[in-house]
Amino acid sequence: MVKVDLSGAAQFFTSAGPDYALAGLAHEKLLNKTGLGSEFTGWMELPQRIKDTELDSIIAAAEKIRSRSKALVVVGIGGSYLGARGAIELLKPLPGKDDPQIFFVGNMLSADTLCDTLDRLGDVDFDVNVISKSGTTLEPAVSFRIFRELLEKKYGDKADEHIFATTDAHKGVLKSLADSHGWETFVVPDDVGGRFSVLSAVGLLPMAVAGIDVRRVIDAAIEELKALSLQSPENPAWKYAAARQHLYAKDYEIEILACYEPSFRFMAEWWKQLYGESEGKDGKGIFPASVEFTADLHSMGQYIQSGPRKLMESVVRFTYSRRTYKFPYEEANTDGLNYIAGRDIAEIGHVAADAVRDAHVSGGVPNIIIEVPMRNEEGFAALVCFFEVACAISGYMSGVNPFDQPGVEAYKKNMFRMLGKPGT
Ligand code: PA5
Repeated sequence: MVKVDLSGAAQFFTSAGPDYALAGLAHEKLLNKTGLGSEFTGWMELPQRIKDTELDSIIAAAEKIRSRSKALVVVGIGGSYLGARGAIELLKPLPGKDDPQIFFVGNMLSADTLCDTLDRLGDVDFDVNVISKSGTTLEPAVSFRIFRELLEKKYGDKADEHIFATTDAHKGVLKSLADSHGWETFVVPDDVGGRFSVLSAVGLLPMAVAGIDVRRVIDAAIEELKALSLQSPENPAWKYAAARQHLYAKDYEIEILACYEPSFRFMAEWWKQLYGESEGKDGKGIFPASVEFTADLHSMGQYIQSGPRKLMESVVRFTYSRRTYKFPYEEANTDGLNYIAGRDIAEIGHVAADAVRDAHVSGGVPNIIIEVPMRNEEGFAALVCFFEVACAISGYMSGVNPFDQPGVEAYKKNMFRMLGKPGT
């Protein structure tokens, strides 16, 4: 299970400290499904449900794609995109020689990106997984039409066999198209919102195609969610939610999520959506930002150390690295680095993390450590479940509905009107 260490934040707390009683009430609402938006809390049962229903067919579809194609084009945006990308970049940052290359489109309206991706697919066998719960989101719909055309050019009347649609079980344009063309379909459950859907077919199909062991992910998630149902201040989700809400009440309005693994970058993007879309409403919400250490210490380090004192820092740390590499000794010592010779690079990284933490805490930045054993399937599942449960608790603590996103509609209305969509 994830461990949360608040020792680098404690000196910034008031003497009363984080409100664990409130965290407990929020957690109870979540578990009893009596809080705001409780009709969208199906993600808490999702791993067990998916294991009992769709998991085998997701894996079978992934194997079919892996055996015949060199690439998978994943079409989706927001909650229908970031979880899969976060998982794949975290666990498979460099594809193995038998792994298809995964392209993500549908998450922009960029002619350059679309054309570059089309060019790359010219000579390559590929499949498409189009993911949209509503089936009406413009960005993925635009990309899908374009890549569907390429499939039709390449495979003629066999194109339909190369399309996998992940969408609502009953309604929406994508569902109707899938039914009329006979595409293999997977379900985005009614009671699971986009940003909580990574452990459904939304995330699992692309992950399985990339070579991630999704059975291990799901088994670990089932165990993790059981552990996170613990109703106690020892629950790491309580600790994290209560600490960040306590700091927010003391005007720490920005949370930077940091990690020392470059492969974590898109997990941080997933986390930003999860927290930003769940908490940023009714005029409140911690602003979620992310940094990649140690790289960003050389760009954002100055601001973090000495800028406005509005920042709290949450650091994801992996206890063990997957690989070891002893830094070599060099007789001549021309670069003067023999003082670290013989030490493992991972250990040097941990020392750097401790040094950064001390510096930032003494510079006035509360520090929360979120520790996971390893960057593997179990570690990924642990992080996802931990962040989801803590996000719901934190949202309920601040009095918002963590499961809606009414603010996202504003730009869509404008865009559709300006593009001349009929009826707008
Ligand atoms: O979390 C959310 O609900 C959003 O980010 C959606 O996932 C995103 O807007 C894409 O929507 P859809 O899956 O309906 O295309």
